[in-house]
Amino acid sequence: MSQLLEIAKTAALTAGSILKNGFRTSCTMHSKQGIHNLVTEYDIASEEVIISIIKQAYPEHSILSEECGHIDNNSDIQWIIDPLDGTVNFAHGIPIFSVSIAAVQNGEPICGVIYAPMTDELFYAEKGQGAFLHDFPIHVTDTKNIEDCILVTGFPYDVKDNPENCIGHIAGILCLGIPIRRLGSAALDIAYVASGRFDGFWEVSLQSWDFAAGLILLKEAGGSIVNYDGSPFTISKGGTFLATNGYIEKAMIEALKHADILYPRVTQ
Ligand code: IPD
Ligand code: CA
Ligand code: CA
Repeated sequence: MSQLLEIAKTAALTAGSILKNGFRTSCTMHSKQGIHNLVTEYDIASEEVIISIIKQAYPEHSILSEECGHIDNNSDIQWIIDPLDGTVNFAHGIPIFSVSIAAVQNGEPICGVIYAPMTDELFYAEKGQGAFLHDFPIHVTDTKNIEDCILVTGFPYDVKDNPENCIGHIAGILCLGIPIRRLGSAALDIAYVASGRFDGFWEVSLQSWDFAAGLILLKEAGGSIVNYDGSPFTISKGGTFLATNGYIEKAMIEALKHADILYPRVTQ
């Protein structure tokens, strides 16, 4: 295991224990953009400890973290951090949230860790080394028919102002009559696809900290992430994508396209 991954794991576990200790104690919620886009003191405490662990090991690296933004050291390695993915769940006492940490080199994730403190599950992957849950290799499902799938999705905070972004898609996919879940932590959603609990995930308008670790985890677990039109997805291209076991990718692209026809967007 590389030192990068060791540091990412240590940071995620340390931050996770702060979140676990703070869970269901009183916390102060502040709205960011939109009333349900929250930040608590635990997002900040988690972020502080992650950044201090990374800085101690790699003072020369750059960092992008959700709450504090960019620390640009002009390095080809950038850490991308979501210190608490699932803040709304956390703030409402729902035990589904995670810490997500990735190291990215020239735009490509080279290692990623997603830690779910309440289930004590540590998902991690390194480029070319496979994906793991604790020390066990994980793999995507081999479900080939979309009718046999269980899928997960999420909705952006601006859905009230931009319903056309995602309402048609959820309606269209729901009409396939298959189970759909919304957990509330995009990083965990992708980790669950990587570990075979879900067959696929889709969401619009995510930020790189929501999915950078998931990207390498899923790839190393045998899955694939593409744009809604099937073209290759890269971190810099934004946050609207489809993450699947690969087998159902085509069917999901068709289902999303069909949903666009059934529920056309007024603006594109
Ligand atoms: C949110 C979660 C949620 C997704 C939102 C994200 P946050 O991240 O990942 O599942 O639907 O789009 O913004 O705000 O809890 O870090
Ligand atoms: Ca997030
Ligand atoms: Ca967050």
